[in-house]
Amino acid sequence: MADVTFTIDGQTVAAPEGEKILWAAQRAGIHIPHLCAHPDREPPFGSCRLCYVDVEGRSGPVTACTEPVAEGLVVTTRSERLDRLVRAGFELLMSTHDLDCKVCPAKRSCGLRTISRQTKVKLRSGDLAKLLPNLPVDDSHDAFGLNPNRCILCGLCVWVCAEQVGRGILDFAHRGLGTHISTFDGEPLAAQACDADCLACVDICPTGALFRKIP
Ligand code: SF4
Ligand code: FES
Repeated sequence: MADVTFTIDGQTVAAPEGEKILWAAQRAGIHIPHLCAHPDREPPFGSCRLCYVDVEGRSGPVTACTEPVAEGLVVTTRSERLDRLVRAGFELLMSTHDLDCKVCPAKRSCGLRTISRQTKVKLRSGDLAKLLPNLPVDDSHDAFGLNPNRCILCGLCVWVCAEQVGRGILDFAHRGLGTHISTFDGEPLAAQACDADCLACVDICPTGALFRKIP
């Protein structure tokens, strides 16, 4: 696809037409917070609401992971309003996430800690009440486990298992506040047709909700 030229924060950027703003910005060294996006994930999921940017001519902010680049686009990634939106989105995510950092295996690779560092928004969820799902940890499999209380419902594990690995072991279960990641039938991980030879779901999980039990 032909390249188009546009600006992000005043910097001229060239990218293939139709590529999402998020990835073009990243390649140009301009960081936009994001947790649920992956360059190969099409269509984008757009659930974390951390990647808001302004595009000139639009009535409101758009998500950079879903918005395609086009010739002459004028994109702004930082402003008081955008910072407020990112803060609100991050605090909402943190309000449903168990802050058990001391025992969480994600440690330095935790995507939430990275966003907190980059945006200067604290991990503790401001004035919002904690709404943890309080679901049991599935520790049944020898190789990996699932702690739904750390999950932010980015769906990356569902996507990678179904679309990249071709197994489809994990999926969203229930709706609304009860939504959580589960095996298709709610059975333990150990009962699934997964021999954990890839652990792609663990590797892609940004929060330590899916965790490795073997080195
Ligand atoms: Fe995202 Fe991890 Fe939750 Fe899967 S388990 S939806 S990868 S946070
Ligand atoms: Fe855009 Fe999550 S990265 S909404």
